[in-house]
Amino acid sequence: MRRIVSLWLPHFPVERLARARRKMNAPPPPEAAPFALVSTGAKGLTLVAVNEAAAWSGLVPGLRLADARARVPDLSSELHEPVQDAASLLSLARWMERWTPSVSLDPPLIVLAPAKTSTSWPKLRDSGSFCINILAASQKPVCDLFARSGIDKFAELSWRPGVTGSPVLAGVLAYIDCDLEAEHDAGDHTIAVGRVRDLEILDPGGAPLLFFRGQYGQFEGMK
Ligand SMILES: Cc1cc2nc3c(=O)[nH]c(=O)nc-3n(C[C@H](O)[C@H](O)[C@H](O)COP(=O)(O)O)c2cc1C
Repeated sequence: MRRIVSLWLPHFPVERLARARRKMNAPPPPEAAPFALVSTGAKGLTLVAVNEAAAWSGLVPGLRLADARARVPDLSSELHEPVQDAASLLSLARWMERWTPSVSLDPPLIVLAPAKTSTSWPKLRDSGSFCINILAASQKPVCDLFARSGIDKFAELSWRPGVTGSPVLAGVLAYIDCDLEAEHDAGDHTIAVGRVRDLEILDPGGAPLLFFRGQYGQFEGMK
């Protein structure tokens, strides 16, 4: 069976650049003000990608930079980095092949199933969001910690808030930060549907912590 996953990432080149800059502790491109990535084409400097503020101002890829500036004088721009974009899309595609927990791609929805006995789920539900952290193979102690009930799971962990405010744990391979979209009753579990607000692969080559038949292990592809 061949699985084809399609994603619509309208501002991908700008968002990739913003992530790369934040990783380097360098100032990211503006979010609230119009911003575009440009490259040199037959018609001179041309818009390749725009951020949301620029799109709201009516700017679209393909416009000449001079025409875009005439329409939106406060537009700032930088040169497009196609090689870095291609590398980032490739690692995203590889990651999607490995781990696709989605129930819907448009809109992007994922699902998880907390037990009705969970003491953490009511708190997560009240917060209106949750973040799925994909643990690295070396993070079994973190998994053990989160599998225990009635303790402060964050007391000795390093984490940062994602865009929803939910915790992105240090050292994870990837994360999917979601707003809680819906809950459905499922016997002794609840099916919780999350709408993806943000996701990032932090370590594309890293090995994930896998759990199968009561054991942790590694995945080996079929020859
Ligand atoms: C590998 C692994 C997978 C788990 N998957 C689930 C799950 O899908 N749903 C669930 O309710 N609990 C699952 N658990 C158990 C919960 O981690 C555990 O019951 C929960 O963390 C108890 O803490 P709480 O009371 O703070 O919710 C899993 C545990 C492990 C180790």
